[in-house]
Amino acid sequence: TENLEIDNVIIGSGYGGAVAALRLAEAGHEVTILEMGLNWEKSGEKFSPMISPGKSAAWLRTKTIAPFFNIFNTKKYTGTLDRWDFSNIKIWMGRGVGGGSLVNGGMAVLPKKNYFKEVFPDLNAEDFYGKYFPLAEKELEVNSADENFLENCSFYKFNKVGEQEAHKAGFKTVRVPNVYDFKYMEDEYENKVPRSALAGEVIYGNNHGKKSLDKTYFKKAQETGKVHIHDLHKVESITKNSDNSYSLEVIQTNTLGETVAKKNIVCKKLFLCAGTMGTLELLLKSSNDNKLTLNSEVGKNWGNNGNFMTGRNFVNTFSGGTGVNHSTIPVGGIDNWNDKEHPFFSEIAPLPMGMDVATSLYLMINPVPKKGSAFFNPISKKLDLQWSADNVALARKNAEYFIKKMNKVNGGTRAHLLFNNGFGADICYHPLGGAVLGKATDMKGKLKGSENLYIIDGSLIPGTIGVNPFLTITALAEYCIEHIISQDY
Ligand code: FDA
Repeated sequence: TENLEIDNVIIGSGYGGAVAALRLAEAGHEVTILEMGLNWEKSGEKFSPMISPGKSAAWLRTKTIAPFFNIFNTKKYTGTLDRWDFSNIKIWMGRGVGGGSLVNGGMAVLPKKNYFKEVFPDLNAEDFYGKYFPLAEKELEVNSADENFLENCSFYKFNKVGEQEAHKAGFKTVRVPNVYDFKYMEDEYENKVPRSALAGEVIYGNNHGKKSLDKTYFKKAQETGKVHIHDLHKVESITKNSDNSYSLEVIQTNTLGETVAKKNIVCKKLFLCAGTMGTLELLLKSSNDNKLTLNSEVGKNWGNNGNFMTGRNFVNTFSGGTGVNHSTIPVGGIDNWNDKEHPFFSEIAPLPMGMDVATSLYLMINPVPKKGSAFFNPISKKLDLQWSADNVALARKNAEYFIKKMNKVNGGTRAHLLFNNGFGADICYHPLGGAVLGKATDMKGKLKGSENLYIIDGSLIPGTIGVNPFLTITALAEYCIEHIISQDY
């Protein structure tokens, strides 16, 4: 076992980790990042499309783990997409340098200001909407598609049909900004450049077009010369030392997940940015092993961001389905948030299967009035969740209302071809909370009761934010690290 002493360690290279790394380095500090996934850019390995899953498809699995149609075998490899299964809920996560940005749909959605205020009553919303959100949008290179392009691009028929049908049913739709470079997509459409979004690439990574974190924050961070990224390094536990430093038990693996080295790293300041599930597992496991003492808020206020997947089959069949080709990048949303009885936001999602399945897919985002919680299960020796049908009751009610209303005026049935009973109530892409800002941590992300330990990722958000969360995670990270640097360095 190798023993190392490092001043600043960041665990995880998603949104929180990327922001922390760049700002610490810009302030003159050396930073080491430990990421359990692969550095895809450095490895030279290619990402694979959804219809022919290769190395990038699944984290150490021999079968694919997409939300549906898992008919493919894969070779065991440290792929980009992981899934943790709990009772009543399955959670998908990104693995690799860039975290969730490698596998997500790139939707960069600003939460509604009123809802942001409700979720974070102690934050100054004016600061966020005037400063941190615009900063996050700039650094993430958020852009919007040209309306003419969307109108004429055959790969967006699914969206056009989705919007027309929503309007017919009396719902309002909104254009959704993204980090995929839409100018690049226009060139893809004209076959001027290699195709990515138009070639079925997304949840196993994009080879082109998407401005994932390795192309934005991490690129800038590496240019400072002060950021050292160690991929295939998994932190197994955190021990608090009497001088308020932390000892990390780390394993280095190969791409088959086999341990090739063990390291003990002692650090002065620790940034826990392992994503909601990764951060909670590390905290709660280390506490269970008596290595770390936690405050009683850790694990509380966990939620699925109201994720509820649903769809409709036999959509628009007489007038021509939803199209053979789907861009993998969503651009449309149905905004029903202000309806008091049925508040929801829904992504009009693509189904890039290379054939017209005349099906509309929706990822609904609902409020989460009843939160769940996370705990360490001493029997399975894993993170576990308290999460039941009660927690998704409102989402289910909203989905029933939405699908019924859509089918009534447009025809179609509940998507029995995609989901057991037409509803994917257990599908979650947006795990949030468990180490909530201002509750488990102080107002800049320092874990209460633990000097020098900061949490900067989705676990700061109390289970709901009303839209796809990475823009909010990035803005919160900018806010937290600014205050950490000015107050604690
Ligand atoms: P994130 O999960 O990004 O990063 C954590 C990193 O820590 C990972 O790279 C992980 O490997 C690493 N890690 C974990 N444990 C570790 C350990 N013990 N040691 C070392 N490293 C460790 N959001 C959105 O706003 N718009 C969208 O369109 C989508 N679409 C979407 C699609 C799919 C398929 C998924 C799975 C998710 C989305 N999301 C999304 C959600 C979004 O990607 C997610 O909210 C963010 O990536 C979360 O950012 P964090 O910084 O919290 O962690």
